[in-house]
Parts: sequence; C-alpha cells; structure tokens
Amino acid sequence: MRSVAATTAMKAVILVGGLGTRLRPLTCNTPKPMIPLANRPFIEHMLLRLQEQGIEEVILAVRYLADQFRETLGDGSRLGLRVHVMEEAEPMGTAGAVKNVEHMLDGDTFIFNGDILTDLDLRAMLAFHQSKGSKTTIALTPVDDPTQFGLVEMNTENRVQRFLEKPRAEDVRTNLINAGTYIIHADMFRYVPPNQHYMFERGLFPVLLQTGDPMFGYPTRNYWTDIGRPHNYLEVNHDILIGRIQVPFPGREVRNRIWIDGETQIDDDVQLVGPLVIGAGVHIARGANIIGPTVIGARCHIGPNVTIEDAVLWEENRLEEGVSLRRCVLGRGNTVKSGTVITDGAIVSDHCQIGAENRLERGIRLWPESVIQDQSISF
Ligand code: GDD
Ligand code: MG
Repeated sequence: MRSVAATTAMKAVILVGGLGTRLRPLTCNTPKPMIPLANRPFIEHMLLRLQEQGIEEVILAVRYLADQFRETLGDGSRLGLRVHVMEEAEPMGTAGAVKNVEHMLDGDTFIFNGDILTDLDLRAMLAFHQSKGSKTTIALTPVDDPTQFGLVEMNTENRVQRFLEKPRAEDVRTNLINAGTYIIHADMFRYVPPNQHYMFERGLFPVLLQTGDPMFGYPTRNYWTDIGRPHNYLEVNHDILIGRIQVPFPGREVRNRIWIDGETQIDDDVQLVGPLVIGAGVHIARGANIIGPTVIGARCHIGPNVTIEDAVLWEENRLEEGVSLRRCVLGRGNTVKSGTVITDGAIVSDHCQIGAENRLERGIRLWPESVIQDQSISF
C-alpha cells in the first residue's frame, strides 16, 4: 500500500518586489532576482528548485520591471512550470502583495521571499505543516546575528509564541529567524486588509498570535543565504562552485571542475584552475591565469596575461593586457584597460570605462557608466 505522502503540487507565490537597495550598484540596471549566480539569473535557480520539488504553478508578485521578468521567463514552460507575473501598481508590502493575488489561491500555499538561496526540503516542510494541523508555517534558520532578520520564538511543540522583526539586541533570546519560506492557508488572508500596504512580519504574524490560528515554526539546518546582502554575493557564487549547495548551472564539465557553456576560444598557454564556470562566446588570450572559484559571463574578452582569482564577471566585459582581478565583482559590458588592478571586495556595475594602471580596492563601488581616466585611482 502506498503511504499518503505530502504532495507539493500546490501554488506558490514568490515576492520579488523589493528594490534591492543594499545590493546597489549591481541592482541599478538589474532587479535583485535577475542577478546571475553562476551564470544563471537567481530567479531561475529558484524556479528550478520549486519545479524539482513538485510545484507546478508560480505567481511572481513584482513591483517594477514586470516586462523584464516576462521576457526572461515567458510562461515558465522552458523551466517546466507555469509562471504568472503579477504587477502591483503600488508597493503592497509582503502580505499585501499576496492579498493582491488572493483570487488566484486556494488552500495551502507556499510563499517565498524572492532573495533566499536554500536547499530546504519543501515536501518535508509540508508534511510537518499537515501533521501539526497548522494554518501558517514559517521555515526557520539559525543565524549569528538575528537583529537583521525576523526573530521567531516557539514553545516546545514548535508553536510560535513571539515574532519580532529586526529585534533590538537586548530582545534576542534565540538564534532562530524567519527564513523567508512560508506555507499559509488561503483563509488566513481574511486578516489582511485589501488595497493597502501590509507586511507579514509586522502585520499578519503578530495578528495571528492574537487570533490563535495555529502558527508553527519549522527549523532546519539546510543551506540558507539571503542574497540581498552585498558581502554575501561573492560567497554565494563561491558556495555554488564548490558544491556547498547543489545548484544546476549552465555548462558542461570539460575538465576537473571547469564548466564551459557552449563555444569558447581559449588560446595556448592559458592556465585554468577550477572551480570555474565560463559562459558561451568567451575568449581567453595567451598567458592568462584564471583561478577559481571564478565565474566568467558570456562573451567576455580576457586579454593576454590577465590574472583573475575569486571573481564574478557578468556578460560582455573586456579586460585588456595584464589586468588583474581578485575578490571582486564586475557587472555587464565594462572595459578595463591594461595593467589595472581590481581587488578586495570592489564592485564595478555596468558599462564602466576604466583606464589603464588604476587600482580599485577596499570595497570601492562604481556606479553604471563611470569613466575613470588612466592612472587616476590608487590607494
Ligand atoms: N511584491 C512585493 N511587494 N514584494 C516585496 C515588497 C512589496 O511591497 N516588499 C518586499 N518584498 C519582497 C522582497 O523583494 C524580498 O524578496 C522579500 O519581500 C523580503 O524583503 P526584504 O527587503 O529582502 O526583507 P529582509 O531581508 O530585510 O527581511 C525579510 O527576510 C528575512 C530573511 O531574509 C523578513 O521576512 C525577515 O523576517 C526575514 O528574517
Ligand atoms: Mg532579504
């Protein structure tokens, strides 16, 4: 006899309306969920994970750049699920955004913050939700500093006792925080006022503690990162490349831990040390040293004797002879002239022109279309 396993063939809503302010300047031209991790937009990683776990229909609650989402994702069939992009006229807040699509929901629904990379087991979470007779289940994860997150206190049966968004240090009594994945029964949205800005974190969850509708916490020790924090961005790419989290990224493993997506031109006398993910149409000229964990986006041109180590480059960057990149991020379409060094957490956004013999370091951030003359920046 088959056991009745929890089926995740339910609807999911992903909240992708935030402005991604903390990730600027990377998010100046690219909404946070579209930021690439290992050469694939983050939202695609999320959708593929949902698809793999049995979710068939996803509503994206977006606030701006809806067309960019529609263009990239279409109806979702390329990723094996149905995707609806729903745009808010005004920011509705996390719970208000779901209220806005309430007519599309029925029964238990998965709701995701759109900036979390995790390998949480959704089927196990649903089985927990059902076994508790829960109406609202919040995935929890331990963190070192809960003051940046939503703190969740539970009793011994995992029933939520207190929810404190961005608590003060003196109010922290647990290291378990809201991990940004919920299962919420559609009935709970009767408590959310229509057509106004309303948050789960400061509105619905505190209200449910008053109404007594069953609300449970589901703690796990799965991989978990909020990609919306800048110091995490390099680290998350790194984690994917070293396999700390299993995430399918584009490319075929042509050599030990070197993945290449499509046609590339790699000249003689180039040293490649994995883990490396290299996009289609990349050219790497003679004498270059590319040391992982490093991601090189499609159609980048890496000039002669360039050194790259622990860096993430998006598409169409052009590095001239002798450029050196270490622990830094380059967005799209930048040109870096010969001999320039970019290191130490520097972030260059998109379409910048960086002259020869500069030194960019110590977390410097270049806004889109910045122009830097030859030999004008050094530390
Ligand atoms: N559609 C829509 N509309 N989405 C929104 C809106 C809105 O008005 N406001 C925020 N979002 C989306 C963001 O895009 C993001 O995916 C998610 O809601 C959470 O917003 P963040 O701005 O990233 O919040 P946070 O990281 O400070 O805190 C949240 O996540 C933590 C986990 O990372 C809270 O849920 C915390 O309680 C939680 O611990
Ligand atoms: Mg966040």
